[in-house]
Amino acid sequence: EKSGYASFMLKEIAEQPKAVADTLLGRVDESGTLLLDEVRVPPEVLRETSKVVVVACGTAFHAGLIAKYAIEHWTRLPCEVELASEFRYRDPILDHGTLVIAISQSGETMDTLMALRHAREQGAHVLAICNTNGSTIPRESDAVLYTHAGPEVAVASTKAFLTQLVACYLVALWLAQHRGEKFGDEIGEVVSELAGIPGDLERVLETMEPVRELARSLAGHDTVLFLGRHVGYPVALEGALKLKELAYMHAEGFAAGELKHGPIALIDQGLPVVVLVPSPRGRSVLHDKIVSNIQEIRARGARTVVIAEEGDEAVAPYADHLIEIPEVPTLLQPLVATVPLQVFACELATARGNEVDQPRNLAKSVTVE
Ligand code: M6R
Repeated sequence: EKSGYASFMLKEIAEQPKAVADTLLGRVDESGTLLLDEVRVPPEVLRETSKVVVVACGTAFHAGLIAKYAIEHWTRLPCEVELASEFRYRDPILDHGTLVIAISQSGETMDTLMALRHAREQGAHVLAICNTNGSTIPRESDAVLYTHAGPEVAVASTKAFLTQLVACYLVALWLAQHRGEKFGDEIGEVVSELAGIPGDLERVLETMEPVRELARSLAGHDTVLFLGRHVGYPVALEGALKLKELAYMHAEGFAAGELKHGPIALIDQGLPVVVLVPSPRGRSVLHDKIVSNIQEIRARGARTVVIAEEGDEAVAPYADHLIEIPEVPTLLQPLVATVPLQVFACELATARGNEVDQPRNLAKSVTVE
């Protein structure tokens, strides 16, 4: 069943181009119109939504954090993202105008289920984004958009995450479409760029050997930090989570702008720091800020592992290790930037002698609160 791969995780990483293509299939037409009638959210609900709340756990929560940037930017609706385990204990403000999006690969995560039950009791409309047909979360939701990642066996989520992102982008664009937001050049570009993502992922996967080599060379380290800004921040959190789960290393993700508010004190001689660099095109302010963050940490001895767009010459001089990813619009960058982090964690875990498909203390679906 591993089809010649050493682990399910490696197989599932390799399946990501197909998983993304399958999740897009039939959901956008050639003119860029979103075709999501299957979701069965009544049009009046879409029009009358005044707030979006995303609830999820673990990696699915990171997908939600990224979705917030897309939803707010494309729909102009306020969007909150909350860990499902925290959500219902804080008396959240929910009503008929709230669209709650519950993201779950398994569809059985108890915290997410309890959060959506609470939301429905308060009158909110719940849309599930789920990878498992007929599981409890979609059954108990008002509507569902399935991700078509196929079965994910490894405990660490990889292809489910990428397809959750795709589903979130589709929902965001669809909400924008229904609410009459102007589909300007940017949205048209995003829709056609989404179609190119499977090809971009193939290219990323072909260039992973240096990432594997780097991972092996870091097997003796205790700590790895991850930094990002904007959508790169949740990607940093996801990179750190993968490393914790698989390599059992101390790994933390930070918003790069927070460095000077504390984390920079952790920077020490030789400490590996992975930095997600936004595209130098578009929002170049973000790019310039992160280049100066890289200079700051490098001046303090960090060993910088820089994930940047191909041809980004401004950042290259400050990268001890440069990992290049294809040019895609900023909001979509997590799709291509996450893959090297998955490969990195998987290889590092293997180099440390860990079982990657079944990390200690973890279960694939967490059906207790
Ligand atoms: O099945 P779910 O998407 O609801 O699971 C949520 C988390 O338990 C899950 O993403 C977990 O964090 C993974 N082990 C991450 O790799």
